Amino acid sequence: MQQDSPGFSLSGRLALVTGGASGIGAGIAASFARSGATVVIADIDLDGAARVAQELVAAGCSASARRLDLGDEKSIVDACADVVDRYGAPWVLVNNAGLQDRESFLEGTAGEWDRMNRVNARGPFLMTREIGRAMVAAGGGGRIVNIGSAVLRGSIVHGLAAYAGSKGALLGLSGALAFELAEHGITVNTVLPGGVATPGAIAAKGPPAAGPGRRPPPLGVCEPADIAAAALFFASPAAGRITNQVLAVDAGFSVT
Ligand SMILES: NC(=O)c1ccc[n+]([C@@H]2O[C@H](COP(=O)([O-])OP(=O)(O)OC[C@H]3O[C@@H](n4cnc5c(N)ncnc54)[C@H](O)[C@@H]3O)[C@@H](O)[C@H]2O)c1
Repeated sequence: MQQDSPGFSLSGRLALVTGGASGIGAGIAASFARSGATVVIADIDLDGAARVAQELVAAGCSASARRLDLGDEKSIVDACADVVDRYGAPWVLVNNAGLQDRESFLEGTAGEWDRMNRVNARGPFLMTREIGRAMVAAGGGGRIVNIGSAVLRGSIVHGLAAYAGSKGALLGLSGALAFELAEHGITVNTVLPGGVATPGAIAAKGPPAAGPGRRPPPLGVCEPADIAAAALFFASPAAGRITNQVLAVDAGFSVT
């Protein structure tokens, strides 16, 4: 008789979610917490992270907040060390936090490119290095889930050169890490969200978001919970032999 699947529960497991104070990250934190994980929400907005954690605790889940600035290596190293000291090595790291501002390409600046890539690509590189070391030392395997963007599938609007570049770097990083971490039982996978009306997406600065990415998706507009479902799948014990994969959750944009 075949063995049972290890399942989708995160009961007894530690999850670290960056950018969990808002939008998609808050949805991922809630989904993981309801699936039994102890969730640490790491965000530059500590008050917002604490608010989300308190709501989850009030709902009977296990969650806490930690300040983290993904643009600052020392903040990353200190935050990861603190989480590992307090709770042990995370089972799953979700590299979710990211900037989404737009800038017309022909007016593009190196400063905006650097700012975007610092948070969206360099930040996950450093986070995964720190948490990857802790996972390897703990010896129990683990999961890295990166939140890219459907811009990598071409559903773009005006002004996304720096953003798309940073998400392309994150996707390249995912492939390299999937290879280097596989021998430690750590999987690395990427979710590509389509448009989600989050506080960050609504407040994004830049030129009007004109372009094919404004077409209405055939399956309706994605919610944070839709993205969280894909992240939960990659984070689950059941997905132990799935790595270097990319799953777009874009409400069918790619078929329009
Ligand atoms: N909303 C969308 O339409 C959409 C589409 C595709 C991909 N995404 C990606 O999903 C992720 C989450 O986006 P969202 O829409 O929920 O955005 P959001 O702005 O609502 O939330 C992002 C969170 O990241 C935090 N953050 C920003 N800079 C940080 C830093 N330097 N250090 C630590 N935390 C920081 C913010 O405080 C915020 O809580 C991003 O990576 C984004 O690129 C979003």
